[in-house]
Amino acid sequence: MPLLELTNLHKFFGRFAAVAGVSLHVDAGEIVGLIGPNGSGKSTLLSTIAGAYQPDDGAIDFNGESIAHLAPDKIFARGLARSYQEPSLFFRMSALDNALLPARAQRGEHARWAPLRSRWWSQERANTALAASTLADLKLLERAHAPASDLSGGQMKLLEMGRTLMGNPKLLLLDEPTAGVAPALAYTIFEEIERMRSMHGLTFLIVEHRLEILFDFVDRLYVMHMGQVIAEGKPAAIEQDALVREVYFGE
Ligand SMILES: Nc1ncnc2c1ncn2[C@@H]1O[C@H](COP(=O)(O)OP(=O)(O)O)[C@@H](O)[C@H]1O
Ligand SMILES: [Mg+2]
Repeated sequence: MPLLELTNLHKFFGRFAAVAGVSLHVDAGEIVGLIGPNGSGKSTLLSTIAGAYQPDDGAIDFNGESIAHLAPDKIFARGLARSYQEPSLFFRMSALDNALLPARAQRGEHARWAPLRSRWWSQERANTALAASTLADLKLLERAHAPASDLSGGQMKLLEMGRTLMGNPKLLLLDEPTAGVAPALAYTIFEEIERMRSMHGLTFLIVEHRLEILFDFVDRLYVMHMGQVIAEGKPAAIEQDALVREVYFGE
């Protein structure tokens, strides 16, 4: 059973089908790429999976259950997290506090438990330890108390990705994780993705424009064009695919 399975998924903006009948699957433990020209529907597809948009038709199954009509927070709670093209950090908060934000079901935030320190203190301490070890893995520990705005573009991307671990996800949807990142750090980001897979058993669906990096790390790829999947396969096969070369590489 795939971890994520899309069947004939549609998302319209008015009468325009930005996602026009997409079927694909991602198996547990895979790193799957999603590529295609600008405007082909990649970001809309990720937003629809994550619940930011309601699908107009088709099915989204995650871990064997339909998530097509769940609210984004319910989808996140089931273990499906996403990151955005633009880092969505709280820039005036410290890197550590940003890392702590997504920790799920924080008891200290419930009015009922907040006055009872003993009820949330151990959880808070465990979360802080996990956030600190995440920052250490990302080589950001020495920046833990610096405001997030002081981080480089690449460090912001690493922090945004790493902190999703606090929600204990199974699947991460990443939208251009290396956008605006210097080439050397772009490779580091993909090494971190691979490390997160092996350390935490995570699964990834990744939109990425830097094909030379993406192709080094993915197991398989899907290619979108005008809201549809036009090809699927391993990097070597995708590179040779005549239709892909025509619509994507402009040959
Ligand atoms: N909120 C929106 N309202 C209307 N049209 C949109 C919206 N978001 C995206 N689109 C359109 O849907 C198409 C797919 O966009 P997008 O999913 O962002 O593509 P990609 O991420 O592949 O570049 C584009 O034609 C875009 O203009
Ligand atoms: Mg996009």
